[in-house]
Amino acid sequence: MAQHPTDRHSALIEDLLAQMTPAEKFGQLQQLAWNGDTGPGGGQNHLAEAAAREGRLGSVLNLVGAAHTNALQKLAVEESRLGIPLLFGFDVIHGYWTTFPVPLAQAASFDPQVAVADARTSAREARSNGLHWTFAPMMDVTREPRWGRIAESCGEDTYLTARFAAAKTHGYQGTAAEQGYDGASGDLGDLLRADAGGAPDAALGADLYGGDRLAACAKHFAGYGAVEGGRDYNTVDLSARRLRNVYLPPFAAAVRAGAATAMAAFNTVNGVPSHANRPLLQGVLKDEWGFDGVVVSDWGGVDELIVHGFAADGADAARLALGAGLDMEMAGTHVGDHGPALLAAGLVGQGRLDDAVRRVLRLKARLGLFDDPYTDEAAEIAGPTAESRAAARRAAARCAVLLKNDGGVLPLDRSGGGSLAVVGPYADSADLHGTWSGPGERRFPAVSVLAALRAAAPELRIEHAAGGAAAVEAVRAADMALVVVGEQSALSGEASSRADITLPGGQEELIAQVAATGRPFAVAVVAGRPLVTERWIERAPAVLLAWHGGLEAGPALADVLFGDVNPGGKLPVTLPRSVGQLPLYYNHENTGRPADPADPAKPYVTGYLDQPYGPRFPFGHGLSYTSFEVSAPRTAAGSVAVADLLAGARVEVAVPVANTGARDGDEVVQLYLHDPVASVVRPVHELRGFRRVALGAGERTEVVFSLGAAEFGFLADDTGALVLEPGRIDVHVGGDSQRTRHLALTLV
Ligand code: NOJ
Repeated sequence: MAQHPTDRHSALIEDLLAQMTPAEKFGQLQQLAWNGDTGPGGGQNHLAEAAAREGRLGSVLNLVGAAHTNALQKLAVEESRLGIPLLFGFDVIHGYWTTFPVPLAQAASFDPQVAVADARTSAREARSNGLHWTFAPMMDVTREPRWGRIAESCGEDTYLTARFAAAKTHGYQGTAAEQGYDGASGDLGDLLRADAGGAPDAALGADLYGGDRLAACAKHFAGYGAVEGGRDYNTVDLSARRLRNVYLPPFAAAVRAGAATAMAAFNTVNGVPSHANRPLLQGVLKDEWGFDGVVVSDWGGVDELIVHGFAADGADAARLALGAGLDMEMAGTHVGDHGPALLAAGLVGQGRLDDAVRRVLRLKARLGLFDDPYTDEAAEIAGPTAESRAAARRAAARCAVLLKNDGGVLPLDRSGGGSLAVVGPYADSADLHGTWSGPGERRFPAVSVLAALRAAAPELRIEHAAGGAAAVEAVRAADMALVVVGEQSALSGEASSRADITLPGGQEELIAQVAATGRPFAVAVVAGRPLVTERWIERAPAVLLAWHGGLEAGPALADVLFGDVNPGGKLPVTLPRSVGQLPLYYNHENTGRPADPADPAKPYVTGYLDQPYGPRFPFGHGLSYTSFEVSAPRTAAGSVAVADLLAGARVEVAVPVANTGARDGDEVVQLYLHDPVASVVRPVHELRGFRRVALGAGERTEVVFSLGAAEFGFLADDTGALVLEPGRIDVHVGGDSQRTRHLALTLV
């Protein structure tokens, strides 16, 4: 491996800083867009070329390909006064050529190794195509299925999101193997502790040299998932308690994992836009957590300070953003345009400017750009390989969630030469990549479900019609049917919120018509969000949530539908009954008048008059073609001292789990905690551990969870310090968040 950034680089950076003019320094904080296709406003190609030559450009986004990036790099390196190389960034969200399932789907695997596989493949492909930096992982916890960006998230749980944030960061940056990170460590304290070999050490020790490493970007800092009404870019008003305990921990985990960069969020938090939020950017991220990487704006986010009603004009916006701790401006040019005058007027400090420039130059050093700024064009990866496709297929199959399976309709029977009708608008569709699928989507269409089913079952007679009378006829004439329904990829992702989250375009009617034929059938749903299924779910005997599964979605779905892979995914989000129930999430607090599941008609309790209480399917739900039993948890001691926990003591909880059915399969054993009496009301359940275990038919094992101070406590609003209070803690375990067994532990 090439050299790590060393004192040599520190000296180089200081030497450059000493030579740079203010315009060149502000230039390093400028990121311009090539072609401008991921935000409003046009591309900035000419501006970028001129700025690169003049040494007034730090980075470019959306330019891809080794030859293209090299050509622009040449202008910066050979024609600018100081020859400082450019950083090339791009949204590699769930794949570059080889698209993996959307991040929400990946979270459903409850297997952080799925995220590592995506990130390693992405890093190899993207780096070979001239890129240094991905604007991922996104780690915005969200309780809003209307919000299109839920597809890019890991759903509603903080701990699950934190595990995936760490896994993906290690995967992109190539530190997974080096640091012995196997994705299996679930210790919350270890995930969050920024002072134990966290950001500063990782930044210097684990460099990003090499042909297969991308700088990761923890985004969007912070609270973006809490946009009111799920409308993208909307206002966020959050208590300090929720911000600390629900929204920030995944960012702490990413910083701890060494994330090289972070991105400010578009939204305000309690009236202050994130791009000018000094308590968040400088306070929490940089000072409290010791983050020494680059904070980049989101697209036009500095300019939007004016639109929000927070800054008077461009100069004011630049002053506020820099002062808050922002280091680089994406697409907008206020920092570059007004920076030198602000510096001259003393409105931006020399120390702050140098700090921001140092962060950018250090990232370039970590990436090895001062040693070799170019990408080897001969080694460029031009498309998916058999190996990357196989990895994407395995990943997609691990993400599928079997929501119901009455009468064992699934797996589909392909023996005996029967017939299968495959209907629905997504049966023969290549629109399976999902949002933010990168250049791969344009060049490599996803294999359709129909094609994959035919390939997997040549002896089966498979008839297809997308919809209408032909589809119903095909179902009537067949032994069994599969209805493939869903949402277009374009209906989730950025600026793709929906007020109505049912299946669009007559698909519910199609399911009703198929049900009316009386033939046995299953429904496969391809989507980027949890949908409201009330109008049809009771009539469908079997439902498989396949998400937007990426390039190999079709073959992966065939694997699951025919039972070559037994589905083991679980919901990373609550599936609501209606939009009217939102927000609906499993880790809510108890009201003084909780609903009583045993007495649905009980008056004067929380809920709605016109709908049953609770979700259609709870967080953590997912069935299998076999059955599992998660038995009562056991622990050696019934109590533990708070002082011992703070000194590092841990409590082991053993959970017996058995495959009680006739097929091999995976169960995700989940552990939730509840503190029934606390100084602030604690959620009824909080996920604090999970383990996906593979068990052969009839096999049993014991999963052991290790719980420490971080698991039992919560974070103080103001300082983020861990609060541990004596008293009872209920430890619940189960195969989802509702059907659990528990034991009581006492903290003394
Ligand atoms: C806006 C999105 O919010 C952000 O996630 C993305 O990285 C940038 N655009 C760049 O495309």
